[in-house]
Amino acid sequence: MNTSNKTVLTMEDSVASREKSLPVLDYETVSPLRKFARDLFVSPLINYIIPTDFLVKILKTSHSELAHESLSRPGGWRSMMLAYANQKPLDMIDALVIKYGTFPMGLRNRKRMVVRKLVELIDYYLTKDGEANIVGVGAGTGVNTIEAIAYRRGSKVKAHLFDLAEDAFVKGEELKRHHDVEEHVHFIKADVAHLDKYLSIRPHIVKLIGIIEYLPDENLHKLLDDVSPFLTPESTVVVNTLEDAHNIDRFLKRVFNLNFYYRSPARLVEILKRHGYSDFRHEYEPLRVYSLLTAHRR
Ligand SMILES: C[S@@+](CC[C@H](N)C(=O)[O-])C[C@H]1O[C@@H](n2cnc3c(N)ncnc32)[C@H](O)[C@@H]1O
Repeated sequence: MNTSNKTVLTMEDSVASREKSLPVLDYETVSPLRKFARDLFVSPLINYIIPTDFLVKILKTSHSELAHESLSRPGGWRSMMLAYANQKPLDMIDALVIKYGTFPMGLRNRKRMVVRKLVELIDYYLTKDGEANIVGVGAGTGVNTIEAIAYRRGSKVKAHLFDLAEDAFVKGEELKRHHDVEEHVHFIKADVAHLDKYLSIRPHIVKLIGIIEYLPDENLHKLLDDVSPFLTPESTVVVNTLEDAHNIDRFLKRVFNLNFYYRSPARLVEILKRHGYSDFRHEYEPLRVYSLLTAHRR
């Protein structure tokens, strides 16, 4: 990574210096046997064989809060929070949805990966510049950023988190208090298109997590047009991909009306290159539902 300091600092150096307190990546995985059974029996059943109305009825009659939330507000910040919380299942359907569903499992893995990456980047910029400024777009409750900052609470770290859903900030304020990071995190209700009205700083880290999979290419290009001018050559963008790695898209569409825009890392790199990004780093979580890309715009 290129720096303006005299000493050339790599991400690995700054990570190594604080390695003891990095978040542990305790990922969730699926055993080959379970994957085999899922591919052979579960996928055909939920995608094709069981009628949609019946699946919806089963979900409605279960006590699964995640199923109910996903039926009424598919893909919203509340369902993300329920998937992250992974509370003790209330019945068998709830267990199948929240504990063993590859989508919520992948989401929890993504959160682990994002929090870890943010802590690594915070360390890098703290070592390099003595401060770290984060901008999050479509941040919801800000849980990823809040948890990452909690690891470096005493430092000069600031986050400006944008979302349109003001109700997510109520939960976010609770999380800020819980993690004792009130001074570090600011929520802003605004569309990403209006970032310029609210941002006076040049962010070190721009976080686009849980947003681009809801956007068709046209809107993704617009989002990148809105966000990219704020990045300096030293800034890092952190963005996730989503892929239908476990063949559940048909189920998600017909039952929850969830219409995702899947993109492989290669496809996202192609799009980011068109907006001037380079220097890509990429990693998958073990279920390969989500991956994280970081890039610079130099
Ligand atoms: C699926 S949630 C993800 C929340 C959080 N990033 C996470 O990963 O847990 C997507 C969020 O993006 C927000 N959002 C969608 N379009 C937006 C826009 N144009 N500007 C700001 N926020 C937006 C929604 O309100 C929603 O809270």
